[in-house]
Amino acid sequence: MSAEATQDIEAYATRALAELEAVLDQKALEAWYRAHLSPSGTVTALRKQIGSLPPEQRKPFGARVNTAANGLKEAFERQKGVVEKLELERAIRREAVDVTLPSRPLPVGGLHPITTAIREIERVFNGMGFETFESPHAELDELNFELLNMPPAHPARDMQDTFYISECAVLRTHTSPGQIRAMRKYAPGPLRVILPGRCYRHEQVTPRSEMQFHQVEGLMVGPRVRLSDLKGVLLACARQVFGKDQQIRLRGSYFPFTEPSVEADIRCTLCGGEGCRVCKHTGWLEIAGAGLVHPTVLRNGGYDPSVVRGIAFGMGVERSFMLLHGITDIRHFFQNDLRFLRQFR
Ligand code: FA5
Repeated sequence: MSAEATQDIEAYATRALAELEAVLDQKALEAWYRAHLSPSGTVTALRKQIGSLPPEQRKPFGARVNTAANGLKEAFERQKGVVEKLELERAIRREAVDVTLPSRPLPVGGLHPITTAIREIERVFNGMGFETFESPHAELDELNFELLNMPPAHPARDMQDTFYISECAVLRTHTSPGQIRAMRKYAPGPLRVILPGRCYRHEQVTPRSEMQFHQVEGLMVGPRVRLSDLKGVLLACARQVFGKDQQIRLRGSYFPFTEPSVEADIRCTLCGGEGCRVCKHTGWLEIAGAGLVHPTVLRNGGYDPSVVRGIAFGMGVERSFMLLHGITDIRHFFQNDLRFLRQFR
């Protein structure tokens, strides 16, 4: 302790207060406290001196020490508030965000090209009065096959290698079982539905075939429905999606659930019909299986085939997309390589 402190407590206190005023940060504040008010500081040392003074000096000396100590304590509390405020301001300045800086670019996802294609087909058919109808991926064998004219052991079942999930349930091999569900909902009234969705076949995966793929099924039933309506809606769809000069053709084919059955082709969009590698020099690309709904299937759906007729078609979305864009491997659609997907934004 300094000699000045003992001789002139008041002068000491004035000097300590002046020092305190210059304290502007936490570290200096702590150092000042240690020097003056802590158990090892000057004020404590002054108090300890009281006992060693002659008795008559103890009281006045003690009173002066107390006055000085109280003044210093009060000033310390005040300065502590000032320092806390200053420290806070400094922290705010240090951590301030410059809101004028351009932000980091956020990666934005996009729709899968198959989703976009299905939505586009849906939009076109919704515009022609076809309602979108959802049907389950896990389907009864009865709806997937039997009610579509494919009883057990029918050879046509072999064309659709199947994932059985129980004795009577399968992962649907096509969207056609949705036809039965839609007919049973609307019969005996007319209906116009479109059934987009994923299908599954227990197939060897190759550049042309996947175990999962998408189809868009269409079904229209009513008293005056004819094969020409099928050609009309497919042509309208082709023209809206691929351009107003697009043409289609129907070729004879076979499906157990349509009679007659056809394959629908569009003019090759790559060569315009001239003939190229993609259309195998035919000028045409196959986009859908189709036909008039078989009378037995109409009956299974709850209709009287002597009163109504139906048209149905089923497009394979990935294969059509591949043809149109010259994609040579179907596996790209499920590998989710962004370099592939981004090309179709
Ligand atoms: C059918 O699935 C019929 N349900 C279509 C139909 C509906 C005909 C209504 C008549 C009336 P198909 O098995 O040919 O038909 O399949 C239709 C389309 O699905 C094929 O042309 C193809 O584009 C697509 N497809 C079939 N199997 C696969 C597969 N493993 N990978 C990718 N696409 C496939």
